[in-house]
Amino acid sequence: MSQRTEKILAQMSIDEKIYFIEQITTATFVPSLKRPNIITGPDSALKLDKELIYEVGTTLNLIGAETMIEAQDHFLAHSKSKRALVFMQDVIHGHRTLYPINLGVAASFDRDLARELAQMAAKEASLDGIGVTFAPMADLVRDPRWGRVMESSGEDPYLNAEMARATVEGLQGDMGKYNIGACVKHFAAYGAAEAGRDYNTVDVSERTLREYYLPAYKSAIDAGVKMVMTAFNIIDGVPCVGNKHLIKDILRDEWGFDGVVISDYGAFDEMITHGASENQKESAYLAMDAGCDIEMMTSCYAHHLKELIEEGKISEAQLDKSVLRVLDLKEELGILDNPYRSVSPEEAKRVQLSPEHRALARKGAEQSAVLLKNNGVLPFDKEVGSVALIGPLGATGEIHGSWHCGGKAEETVSVYEGLKNLLGDKVKYAQGCQIEYDSEDTSLFDEACQLAKNSECVVLCLGEHQDYSGEGNCRASIDLPEVQYKLLERILEVNKNVAVALFTGRPLAISRLDKLAPAILNMWMPGTEGGSACANLLFGEVIPSGKITMTFPRTLGQCPIYYNHYTTGRPKLEQDDLKRVPYTSSYIDAPNSPLYPFGYGLSYTSFEYSDYKLSGTVMRAGERLIASVKIKNTGKYRAREAVQFYIRDLKGSCVRPVKELKGFEKLELDIGEEKTVTFEITEPMLRYWTRNMRHESEKGEFEVFIGKDSTCAPFAKFELI
Ligand code: GLC
Repeated sequence: MSQRTEKILAQMSIDEKIYFIEQITTATFVPSLKRPNIITGPDSALKLDKELIYEVGTTLNLIGAETMIEAQDHFLAHSKSKRALVFMQDVIHGHRTLYPINLGVAASFDRDLARELAQMAAKEASLDGIGVTFAPMADLVRDPRWGRVMESSGEDPYLNAEMARATVEGLQGDMGKYNIGACVKHFAAYGAAEAGRDYNTVDVSERTLREYYLPAYKSAIDAGVKMVMTAFNIIDGVPCVGNKHLIKDILRDEWGFDGVVISDYGAFDEMITHGASENQKESAYLAMDAGCDIEMMTSCYAHHLKELIEEGKISEAQLDKSVLRVLDLKEELGILDNPYRSVSPEEAKRVQLSPEHRALARKGAEQSAVLLKNNGVLPFDKEVGSVALIGPLGATGEIHGSWHCGGKAEETVSVYEGLKNLLGDKVKYAQGCQIEYDSEDTSLFDEACQLAKNSECVVLCLGEHQDYSGEGNCRASIDLPEVQYKLLERILEVNKNVAVALFTGRPLAISRLDKLAPAILNMWMPGTEGGSACANLLFGEVIPSGKITMTFPRTLGQCPIYYNHYTTGRPKLEQDDLKRVPYTSSYIDAPNSPLYPFGYGLSYTSFEYSDYKLSGTVMRAGERLIASVKIKNTGKYRAREAVQFYIRDLKGSCVRPVKELKGFEKLELDIGEEKTVTFEITEPMLRYWTRNMRHESEKGEFEVFIGKDSTCAPFAKFELI
């Protein structure tokens, strides 16, 4: 806090303070929209005071520099206090120039790239007048049925933490003109929703919460994130937004976070639906008592906080603390000096979707793509005489993910455009089938097969529509639709030189595709330059280097399935994977192993790992060991490789995972080039939540692994003494 913000606080009436921590949509203050605020239901649904709404501190949603200027102008003209708005928006994986969904960016295993992409998003958003983005989403995920895995970084706490930190650093930078505030979400463990169904019950132990789900949020806090958004779900039976143990005990007291906590959209009222609150008044009490500062899109504070203070149930000091946090955020954003911050319609037009930004988005898509299978058909030869592009996702710009907000399909390079830009008019397109997952329409098969028959190679774009993932878009089946398999089978009858470009917001249970397709390149939802990136990867202009950060199951029946699991008392041994072994933790009708494991991804070249070394076999607290390996590019292409470093704690006062990612490095090697990669082992990285619920290391033996994915074998042991 500062003298300046304390002075402002002292001038505010209690009504002004209360409305200051209400958040409603920006559309409320944009007369030119000439419509009631239908995004959120008319304002009347919130029953807010028509005068006092001009005392709110922040708004959300709506895009465009001119719109923000109009909103701020209108707001300041009507506000008695003239305290300018902070505009907040979901800038999740890009603003106007969209890069891949976050599950794709994580697959790049490249912290610097993640930071650079976030920086680009912040610059584009700041020029549209946005002050804060509701990102990074740092929820750990294990169930691909959940629609929001697309905006996560996957199943590993360490990688999630690294990506959250890099994103906060990219967005916030030095909080200069082209930076915006970040808001880590959804606190906490939103990704643990049972059955992968959005908003569903979360029931994890405190130890699991701390061991797996909390590290990424903590990493964002340590990186200086300005805001935290609470999750819709319950933790230990209490909705997060009113969960005092979560917000006050852990976030504020244990982690020392004194920034703004904001609810998710409507979560205050949802406490009533959860059955955790009698009415809006109790919701207001629970949220304020827990330490939630801003109420998003409900009006519990507006209608009941004053009464709660008069009744002595909430102190005005608690209200003041929340108001001060928001005032301090405004001061950090520069809004107290300049209500218009960095907004500039002219500069926004120059910068957004600029060639430089498109190039970076293309690089993001190229580095995020994961080659899942290749029997040798890829890369295709650019000199090929004719290319058949087939599939419902081949000629559409709707390949940028469900959180596209500021992005537009018409500004997105489709695969068709990308291929034509690269190869000219030898590319012909046929849709082949519909994208709907329940379509049975085979009427376009013949045309597609005819084209495939008359072409030297076939690019088949399959997968799910971008709206089949994202918030609320969960799936009870995560395989490809039957009609897509039928199309693939028909095409393979007339042409074997086929590569499937897969577009998906989640891991899919595509064992059948893995058997049928000669090659599979997973593009995720690649963003504005997705088509260019796809063309470059398929034809070898760029070599695939992405590696999945969320396990692909063989069948949905294996879910949840993740690499950093516990061994159980009756593990099925890996060498028995395809056998039935009674009385082991296994299935009678499927292996335990996934289709593609965490950290997996192929290349067009080959890498040889050799000369594994560990600098010692004993380590004391305060000391360190060095694990190293040599990696050589033994193939025909200069390429990049994400080298992964894992550790296994062989025994603990609580059981320990069979493997934990503790480091990774993405390196580029020329043909024949060899490099040594080293990873440092220190005592703090061995700490975990022990039987005493303390975050500490325990003496004992550890195994060390370095490899190309999470199936790598241990190469050494050491003892912590
Ligand atoms: C949504 C999402 C959250 C988003 C917010 C504002 O419901 O859960 O991630 O930031 O509302 O759009």
